[in-house]
Amino acid sequence: MNHFELIDGEMHVENVPISAIAQAVGTPVYAYSAARLRENARAFRDGVAPLGRVHLAFAIKANPNLAVVRLLANEGFGADVVSGGELARAMAAGVAAKDIVFSGVGKSRAELIQGLEAGIGQFNLELEEEGVVLAALAAERGLRAPAALRVNPDVDAGTHAKISTGKAENKFGLPIDEAPAIFDRLGGLEGLNLRGVAVHIGSQLLGLAPLEAAFERVGRLVADLRAAGHTITHVDLGGGLGVAYRPGETPPTPAAFGEMVARVTKGWDVELMFEPGRVIAGDAGVLVTEVLWVKPGVTHPWVIVDAAMNDLARVALYDAYHGFAAVKPSGKTMVANVAGPVCESSDVFVKGREIDAVKGGDLAVLQTAGAYGATMASTYNSRPLVPEVLVSGDRFEVVAKRIAAEHIMAEEHVPDWLK
Ligand code: LLP
Repeated sequence: MNHFELIDGEMHVENVPISAIAQAVGTPVYAYSAARLRENARAFRDGVAPLGRVHLAFAIKANPNLAVVRLLANEGFGADVVSGGELARAMAAGVAAKDIVFSGVGKSRAELIQGLEAGIGQFNLELEEEGVVLAALAAERGLRAPAALRVNPDVDAGTHAKISTGKAENKFGLPIDEAPAIFDRLGGLEGLNLRGVAVHIGSQLLGLAPLEAAFERVGRLVADLRAAGHTITHVDLGGGLGVAYRPGETPPTPAAFGEMVARVTKGWDVELMFEPGRVIAGDAGVLVTEVLWVKPGVTHPWVIVDAAMNDLARVALYDAYHGFAAVKPSGKTMVANVAGPVCESSDVFVKGREIDAVKGGDLAVLQTAGAYGATMASTYNSRPLVPEVLVSGDRFEVVAKRIAAEHIMAEEHVPDWLK
């Protein structure tokens, strides 16, 4: 069931009319459906359930809001984190340290220590030297850091270049061919429990074939490592499953993903770990905006809305597609561009598309904005940081306040010597 449906002519999030959210909180504002988050979490869990021993870690970069992370923790999800800030968030949201995986190509020493002291479940190492440093930091503290080597399988994920991570030329992971030698060297370090392999080839994948190719390579690596005498108990298969942004897009279902993984990993005898982000949060949120003006344009009219690229960066960054719909559609349509107020030509959400007809003062939504939306927001142009609302049934709550430009200014300072 879609939780962003028209009820009596007005789009609701679950049972809450979007105009009620806009009235209470103002616009722009992100609105998430708790029911949809839960359904997505359960669909993923069910999809991989036949695999036996699995560990689910929500990639909280997709939506790090404390309420969202807590809701998912309640559904049995741990967290995949990529910074000290995300680690702190996961812990604050109530994720058990043992269920936290620390990924990321540039963990600082301070972040490694933070993870060690918290007692997290796994560090995904990106280079040999990181393993050496982590082992030393752990040994100094009388600890043994659970770790996996993140390998780069040199597979084309077939997604946007800016969200591909598994090609040899990308900065992520270490070359899969070098993994056995690195394992030999790191395997014996006192402070390290090097127990597995991790892979993540990219995001918004609309087909399973690249994932399957990557996992097959990882399977051969696991066999080679075992043949060399290493004990492999964990394999982290990352995230990457896409969602439908455009009408007619058919991303693989978690069930189909689970079947493919079952086939490829048969006989591996490891705990499989997953780091889904977008597939959990993507279609569980919309960005609510108000139409400010409809400005005549040379080719199409410009619908100027009060949300902008600082609130939802995906279109400007990745040429991403987000559906645009009126909250109270009249049934009429128009061909238009939709743009925000930021002073950049890339601050355009929609170009020459047939959309619901709107006029100044109307509310509208940018759809499928629950992942990589609010989390990538900035205050560019000294715009406030966009707030977030979580809806459950007929109630809703502000789960992140709007942060005014004045608040940000309060953290700034003019030196006396300029006065
Ligand atoms: N694990 C690792 C190591 C990752 O780097 C990522 C995403 C994930 C898991 C989660 O991937 P997902 O299941 O969400 O595809 N801002 C971009 C997406 C960047 C993804 C970065 N890494 C966007 O808006 O499309």
